Amino acid sequence: MSINDTTQAAKPVHRRTTTRLTAAAVCLSVALGGGALLAAPAHAATTTQSDIVLGVGSNEAQRNLSWYSSTDTVQIAQLALASDVVNGVFPSSTTSFAGTGAATTSGEFNRFATVTGLKENTSYVYRVGSEGDWSSTYSFRTQDFDGAFNFLFFGDPQLGSSGNLVNDSAGWVDTLNVATAAYPNAEMLFSAGDQVESATSEAQYEAFLQSDSLRQIPFVATNGNHDVGSKAYEQHFNTPNLDRTAGANTGSGSGGDYWFIYKDVLFLDINSNSRDASHIAWMNKVVAEQGANAKWRVLAFHHSIYSPGPHATDADVLDRRNVLPTAISNLGIDLVLQGHDHSYARSYLIHNGAKANPDEVAGADSVVAGPGGVLYVTANSASGSKYYDLQNKDFWWLSAQNQEKVRNYSAVDISDGAITIKTLRSQANGSDNPVNSIVDQVTLTRAAVPDLDSQQVQVTVPKAAPGEFVWNVDGTNNLVDLGTAIETGDHYAAIGAINPIRVTDTRAAGPQWSISAQVGDFTSASTSFSGKYLGWTPSAVLAGGDTVAGATVQSGFISGDGLSVSSTLGHAANGHALGSAKLAASLDLKIPVEVTKGTYTATLTLTALS
Ligand SMILES: [Fe+2]
Repeated sequence: MSINDTTQAAKPVHRRTTTRLTAAAVCLSVALGGGALLAAPAHAATTTQSDIVLGVGSNEAQRNLSWYSSTDTVQIAQLALASDVVNGVFPSSTTSFAGTGAATTSGEFNRFATVTGLKENTSYVYRVGSEGDWSSTYSFRTQDFDGAFNFLFFGDPQLGSSGNLVNDSAGWVDTLNVATAAYPNAEMLFSAGDQVESATSEAQYEAFLQSDSLRQIPFVATNGNHDVGSKAYEQHFNTPNLDRTAGANTGSGSGGDYWFIYKDVLFLDINSNSRDASHIAWMNKVVAEQGANAKWRVLAFHHSIYSPGPHATDADVLDRRNVLPTAISNLGIDLVLQGHDHSYARSYLIHNGAKANPDEVAGADSVVAGPGGVLYVTANSASGSKYYDLQNKDFWWLSAQNQEKVRNYSAVDISDGAITIKTLRSQANGSDNPVNSIVDQVTLTRAAVPDLDSQQVQVTVPKAAPGEFVWNVDGTNNLVDLGTAIETGDHYAAIGAINPIRVTDTRAAGPQWSISAQVGDFTSASTSFSGKYLGWTPSAVLAGGDTVAGATVQSGFISGDGLSVSSTLGHAANGHALGSAKLAASLDLKIPVEVTKGTYTATLTLTALS
């Protein structure tokens, strides 16, 4: 049996809902300004460290560090509380994390270290190297470990592609500066891939990595077509949960797909240079293992499949567009971040490779995704090193497109109920379009739970009521498994319980509300039986706000229609007290023994009226 996950219309719809309704990022006042706080030791070092990158870790309590070393020595990353820094001296109280690595393709030695055990809302300092050979000291800070957050998305810096590395580098640094100044609480710097023009060019990597922003805010690397031809990508970027077997890892390529969870959002980042089927198998595995822990699912890969420029009709892109969209919809991905076409595009919501809603209008400020609906965003160049013209061929997938040949970045705000992608100019385009003017903006919300694990999922969302009546499913798994029914005399019996429903009603007048449910037929691949055989006994686990549980409904096997007709889970009368409640229900399924053996699922649709 399955049960849907639903919420009330006045609020953005939650998926795998949590109870954090109004989580907000706390802005910290940090006394640490620039990246390098403290000078490296004055004595002549025998080993130098370079190319230091603060990467994203497996979760918000980790960071993955990477750096290059001039010699092959034992090295560590040292972490300390920024509050322990006195007179610019690195604290004596530190935590060390081992660095691992090997010779790089460019003759240095790379080192990776994973910093773990971070606390939220804390400022840290760190350095890498070994005693007597430390790097400069850098700083970063953590923020709340749950709730809403913001990250910055950048398209194809591809430093060196203009032929003028100095110009490309200046554009990239300026975009980083503009973006991080406009969004000082941004928690990630997310690249769409093609960090450099030539994967073998350490000069280009040095230019790419010159901004201390990349040592202060976790960087999320994506593997672009210009990042292969050398192992430098995977030697520079320490990506979490990397599976090198997903996507062909050729001799000169940097293979592998990786994932991480940040503040209840599952991020998947795949190496689209490879087009083998292992990406889909890998995504299925990760989503099966991690998806229930995430309120949103975000996928990133370099080669945009819904772009407006010349790459949109490349044969390899056509192949990806044929292969990936249905898998992406089935995976319940909400947002796909892409690059490669050096122009901006935002798709309509796309379900299984087709426009999900024929009525969606171009450039809509907000879009509401049903099951399998996916928003695809393609970033323009963040460095200005290369732009492609729009094809202007009325591609069916384009809700918005833009090419003004000025640098862009996107600010992505994620909360429990919505994702807003705001794309801005980091370079003015005349006086009408100054720096940080908006190219495009869209807010994505979910109307219903996507079809996952072959569950039939439905949601009924009533008209929004003013005030603060909020309800959601208290749990991360929308599947209620009643297990294997047991033969009991003249029937099969199974029991279970719904995921509890949390209700908060703080409307001053205390208007009445009720939550009811109704189940459809139980179906298997070839047969079905009536939902009337399901009964329940509701209870108010928490009964704040004068909440009253609904009456027991017995299985239709005994008598009546069971839950095949709408039945009340709980309610509160007019004039009730303010407060919160938690409604549960034990389930009682009694099925005639004549029912054919099999695994059956049904949809329990919950509806709130207020
Ligand atoms: Fe590319």
